[in-house]
Amino acid sequence: MVKQRKCAIVTGAGQGIGRGIVIELVKNGFDVAGVDIIYQPDNKEKGLFEVKQQAEKLGGSFLAIGADISDLNSHKKIVEQIVAKFGRINLLVNNAGVAPRQRLDILETTAESYDRVMSINARGPFFLTQQVANFMIQQKQKDQNLMPYIIFISSISAYVSSPSRAEYCLSKAAVSAAATIYADRLAEFGINVYQIRPGIILTDMTAVVKQKYDKLIAEGLVPQKRWGYPEDVGKAVSALVSGGFDYSTGAVIEVSGGMNIHHL
Ligand SMILES: NC(=O)c1ccc[n+]([C@@H]2O[C@H](COP(=O)([O-])OP(=O)(O)OC[C@H]3O[C@@H](n4cnc5c(N)ncnc54)[C@H](O)[C@@H]3O)[C@@H](O)[C@H]2O)c1
Repeated sequence: MVKQRKCAIVTGAGQGIGRGIVIELVKNGFDVAGVDIIYQPDNKEKGLFEVKQQAEKLGGSFLAIGADISDLNSHKKIVEQIVAKFGRINLLVNNAGVAPRQRLDILETTAESYDRVMSINARGPFFLTQQVANFMIQQKQKDQNLMPYIIFISSISAYVSSPSRAEYCLSKAAVSAAATIYADRLAEFGINVYQIRPGIILTDMTAVVKQKYDKLIAEGLVPQKRWGYPEDVGKAVSALVSGGFDYSTGAVIEVSGGMNIHHL
């Protein structure tokens, strides 16, 4: 009998860390539904449809879904589309997120930026997870052998202070709490929830501050003395869903080259 591939939802799958997660999951036997606010079927160079091509080359199926995760009305439809195509959901990776459009000091941060960042980074994933978790509970009731997982991509910003992007730090602290609380609530259903905290990862999000971080990394800010790459996060996701951490729900994994180490 051919072994059925597992199905993952990855938000923000069109580029950066989301793309890295998709590629590693496909290599490890997953089909993927990639959700992104940018949906351009004609663009095969960058975005969801470039990722689809890569995933298919590696032998996986990829369903591209255009949706804004901060729009709570889109969540039910996202789940329905995935179930219609794959019939199951084994993993949700809450990855989509944004930085503030402008870095403003905490003494000047605007309510508009606060609301935008919180709504995409924290409120959206909180309610998408609620929708998916309820589906996973029903799925598990039909088949006790299933071991579904949920992973939140938070950040070292959940605990590191950046006064010029306070709303981002707040949103990541909220995501971090959501991961812990969902891990607690879903443990009785056999649904494990983890949190990954990336450090400084080379993507479009950090491109604007590349020179600043090149210098800081060379000076020792990151003990492992290099940028992180999307595949570093993808590999951590794959490891968490490999079964090796099944007695560790609620675990927090740092993918930051050792930035979590306090040193003298
Ligand atoms: N790059 C880093 O150094 C770093 C560090 C720690 C945490 N993170 C987190 O990792 C995640 C991915 O970051 P990245 O660096 O790959 O960023 P990125 O900007 O390169 O990619 C983010 C993706 O999310 C999509 N997206 C944005 N808003 C969306 C929405 N409302 N609905 C659906 N999709 C949306 C974008 O279109 C894009 O494809 C984010 O949550 C970010 O906060 C990044």
